[in-house]
Amino acid sequence: MKKELIACLLACLSPAASEAAERSPIRISTHETDLILTITPGGRLQQAYLGKRLANESDLASLPYYNTQGSDGSSPAKGWEVYPGSGAEDYFEPALAITHNDGNMTTVLSFVSAETKKIDDNVTETVIRLKDNVYPVEVALHYMAYGKENIIKSWSLITHREKKPVTLWRYASNMLYFENAAYFLTEFSGDWAKEVNMSLQELKFGKKVIETKLGSRAAMHAYPFFEVGLGRAPEENEGEVLMGTIGWTGNFQFTFEVDNAGNLRVISGINPYASAYELKPGEVFATPEFIFTLSDCGKGKASRDIHRWAREYQLKDGKGDRLTLLNNWEATGFNFDQPKLEGLMKEAKTLGVDMFLLDDGWFANKYPRANDRAGLGDWEANRSKLPGGVARLVQAAGEAGVRFGIWIEPEMVNPRSELFEKHPDWVIRQPDRETYYYRNQLVLDLANPKVQDHVFGVVDNLMKENPGLAYFKWDCNSPITNVYSPYLKDKQNHLYIDHVRGVYNVFRRVKESYPDLPMMLCSGGGARCDYEALKYFTEFWCSDNTDPVERLYIQWGFSQFFPTKAMSAHVTSWNRRTGIKFRTDVAMMCKLGFDISLKDMDEKELAYCRQAVANYNRLKDVILNGDFYRLVSPYETNHTAVMHVGESQSKALLYVYDINPRFGEKLLPVKLQGLDASSTYRIEEINLPEGARSRLGATGKTFTGDYLMKVGLSVFTTSQNNSRIIEITQI
Ligand code: GLA
Repeated sequence: MKKELIACLLACLSPAASEAAERSPIRISTHETDLILTITPGGRLQQAYLGKRLANESDLASLPYYNTQGSDGSSPAKGWEVYPGSGAEDYFEPALAITHNDGNMTTVLSFVSAETKKIDDNVTETVIRLKDNVYPVEVALHYMAYGKENIIKSWSLITHREKKPVTLWRYASNMLYFENAAYFLTEFSGDWAKEVNMSLQELKFGKKVIETKLGSRAAMHAYPFFEVGLGRAPEENEGEVLMGTIGWTGNFQFTFEVDNAGNLRVISGINPYASAYELKPGEVFATPEFIFTLSDCGKGKASRDIHRWAREYQLKDGKGDRLTLLNNWEATGFNFDQPKLEGLMKEAKTLGVDMFLLDDGWFANKYPRANDRAGLGDWEANRSKLPGGVARLVQAAGEAGVRFGIWIEPEMVNPRSELFEKHPDWVIRQPDRETYYYRNQLVLDLANPKVQDHVFGVVDNLMKENPGLAYFKWDCNSPITNVYSPYLKDKQNHLYIDHVRGVYNVFRRVKESYPDLPMMLCSGGGARCDYEALKYFTEFWCSDNTDPVERLYIQWGFSQFFPTKAMSAHVTSWNRRTGIKFRTDVAMMCKLGFDISLKDMDEKELAYCRQAVANYNRLKDVILNGDFYRLVSPYETNHTAVMHVGESQSKALLYVYDINPRFGEKLLPVKLQGLDASSTYRIEEINLPEGARSRLGATGKTFTGDYLMKVGLSVFTTSQNNSRIIEITQI
């Protein structure tokens, strides 16, 4: 009763309520999008508008309050609350749920203040403070708006001053509302070697949840991004689309809820599964960043906006160069020694790539890493395979004229390892149950700061002993199994979250110590691909599946959210039927590498690859930093085509693939995009096998950009697994 009285007094006296009544809307804007939040007379924060940027500031005052309950439009407290707590008037999935010290499970947040700071000419940061009028709980909603790139990134900070810890049950990064006639979700699902399959479904009344519970190797089955077509299915170049992604390398959750009024709520955050978090007084719970864009002309534009933003602001060395490489995993597996590797380093030089990347199998002595059953954790070069250690490898690469990179998987351990023998308590596993192994390994307990030191030390020791190391491939092959942290003891509910935070502590330390070190994020293929991890990595491995036909789909999928410079693609011997040209041409559109012994190629094939590497180097700026256009979808036709357009529109590259054409099939010309309509361009087919002449009618000819974009080029054929790379140069 006393509490209610205080609450009532607080509410009446609250500066929030009176200030709120007069406050003008909070406007979070990019050059193209407005997210407009208003404060109700009762002091609650609502989403009044999310859509195309409004031209007139004066129109903001006309924006309505939204009422999701449908029946009673008079109550302004009901509505599109930006960060609804549990147990109030909103009967749908809340953004925040807390059990307070007295057992009460409701939270009602009122507006306190909002501040918008200009970070630079392009970026603004808005911080909105909310607090509960009854309990000393505060939330700060952060929004970064990137003007030119049309991206908004948002996250929340939750804190309290109750006497004892409170329990957080829900802790969304962000919640958004949409009012459209229909909603269509594109989700991305997968597994090892079949990453990012795109599928479409209409969202109807109720909830659709996309989530993962894998702990580490988190995106093996579900990917931390989605697309929602507003009013109609998302298309490449038309229609309103929301594209969102969460930066969390652990259990994430997207909830899409269509309510009784037919409005859609999208809630993004950490998956609260088995993670009721006990937050101490004064401690701040920071949610992951949720990044989104709204496009009114389809997914293609939204992707390009995300790519540009990622290169400019998020990806490690986003604007920098990338090293082409020769990897040995497909060529040798675990079966190599010093002379074999030295031979491959020379092959890397012959190919013309920048670096040789040594994969798994180079370490451990007591339990040598001869296969995936032993050695993980013991990061010392195996003396019988590599008597000169890593130092000799770096030196040999230097002698061969290439740089040297190395594979590690430092978050994991094989039970057959010295690390496990020394520190069994550093491992996530059940004390009293039978152990379940994924790929014969276990996950280290990264919630434990000592384990964090050890994992950081893996990179740090290698770098200190071998400052010439030019690159790391950082793998993570196992989900968390046998979910029990010896370090967290009776706080097992913190495991999934503290583990990921521990991983970030390590990533951060590595980046701080080695800011210029390029690193590939890998997770048994492409199961780690999120924008928090990518702050610390220059690129990620998309899939162990390097069959070029499969790769066309995988690269199409990942390119929805990631710039091609962040997507590692290697030419291998998978699906040899497709020929070296097709395999190389598929990898050319991404961050190019090879994982094949030159002994598996004849002279002509080698000459082809050398030429492709030379072309790649010559055109690197367009490939790595150009705008990416998806022209023809492999999901919809028997072919696919994509292109890069360089920043000044003076150079473009068109990549064309006939996958599985039908006999006598009608072939349509491909309309290009992104060119300058008023310029003239010369068309030149490149990457031609030695001695072959281009059979492309347009090669050597000139066309206006207008023609190329409206009429297009006849580039497809009816030959199976045929490819063309076409250079387009402004004259
Ligand atoms: C994972 C990676 C592969 C390779 C192997 C080595 O599967 O995705 O590229 O590095 O591990 O064990």
